[in-house]
Amino acid sequence: MNKKTLKDLDFKNKKVLVRFDFNVPLDNGKITDDTRINAAIETIKYLQQQDAKIIMLSHLGRVKNEDDRVKNTLAPVAKRLGEILKQQVVFINETRGKELETAINALQPKQLLLIENTRFEDLNGNKESGNDQELGKYWAHLGEVFVNDAFGTAHRAHASNVGIAANIKQSCVGLLIEKELTMLNKITMQPEHPFVAVIGGAKVSDKIDVIKQLLIKADKVLIGGGMAYTFMKALGFEIGDSLLEKDKIDTAKEIMNFGKGKLILPVDFVMAKEFKDIKGEITKDQNIKIGFEGMDIGPKTLKLFQDSLIDAKTVFWNGPVGVFEMSHFAKGTESICKTIASLKNAFTLIGGGDSAAAAVKFGYESKFSHISTGGGASLEYLEGKKLPGIEAIENK
Ligand code: 3PG
Repeated sequence: MNKKTLKDLDFKNKKVLVRFDFNVPLDNGKITDDTRINAAIETIKYLQQQDAKIIMLSHLGRVKNEDDRVKNTLAPVAKRLGEILKQQVVFINETRGKELETAINALQPKQLLLIENTRFEDLNGNKESGNDQELGKYWAHLGEVFVNDAFGTAHRAHASNVGIAANIKQSCVGLLIEKELTMLNKITMQPEHPFVAVIGGAKVSDKIDVIKQLLIKADKVLIGGGMAYTFMKALGFEIGDSLLEKDKIDTAKEIMNFGKGKLILPVDFVMAKEFKDIKGEITKDQNIKIGFEGMDIGPKTLKLFQDSLIDAKTVFWNGPVGVFEMSHFAKGTESICKTIASLKNAFTLIGGGDSAAAAVKFGYESKFSHISTGGGASLEYLEGKKLPGIEAIENK
């Protein structure tokens, strides 16, 4: 890693600005998954051992109007952090101003302060998401050192990551970013073979570049989920009312051409007329009946995918292979999750998002080598793109 890390800087008695990704799912103001909060604890504890005064920033959700502002306060995150650390977290429900500045000046070493959702600044002319120069400078002047540990936001150039880093003397990445990159590098740099990737999810358009990269590096790329139907259409099969990206049919053909011998597509499906139709029907082949929608991979596909995974030494999984949120269409995703989780002596990585949620739902999360906290960020990293939030940090 050519970027400075926590070990390279001195934090004693310093005001340290730390960008985390506390963008957690909320249901009526209640946190439904605190993985991203737990993932920040190691860096917080390290900084406390170093006697830092810790000023935390994060976004939460997308803030486009007053309603979003009310729904997306970071107050529940401050409360949860306090419970985990058994320590008070000072929460300032402002993103700038006198109250915030006074509270920061009153901080003692080891104390924690959380600033309100940085995207509240988006109501003021998209200042956070647009990396407004003045805002980055303002936040930077509140501290002396900047630590970026928001891996899930590293593919965004916001004022609270790139902007602060550009306007402060000293910066480094935190322990979570270090760990995420170490894990992802096991896939991007000399993965152990056989290397098998399982890619699902609704849209092929979100994953074209990552599929192409994986077709270069992996031995097999298995395609499932909603995106599979665009491939089926490109091959001339009937797909009924299944998900289709018409404008990506040529791209699907191009990918199949590029991936000859490596790309493995489903050979059957579970289809139904609608989501609530609990009696799904198994297709005879790749065709889906008119008036029906593909909901999950079928039993022959499951066997084909399991056989492809059996001797894998490296597995990357991103995206469910069916509508796993509905128990009657979850079999494919659950079985693939179980198969990967049961592999012996393999490095297994989930690239965040829905497949991470599936692993938690089915109870296999502890059986994976690593589950990334960044869906979008991990995909862009695997595509070979530079992540602006990391690029902005000082080199060693
Ligand atoms: C994520 O959840 O992927 C990150 O927190 C980034 O959020 P965003 O997609 O709203 O920018």
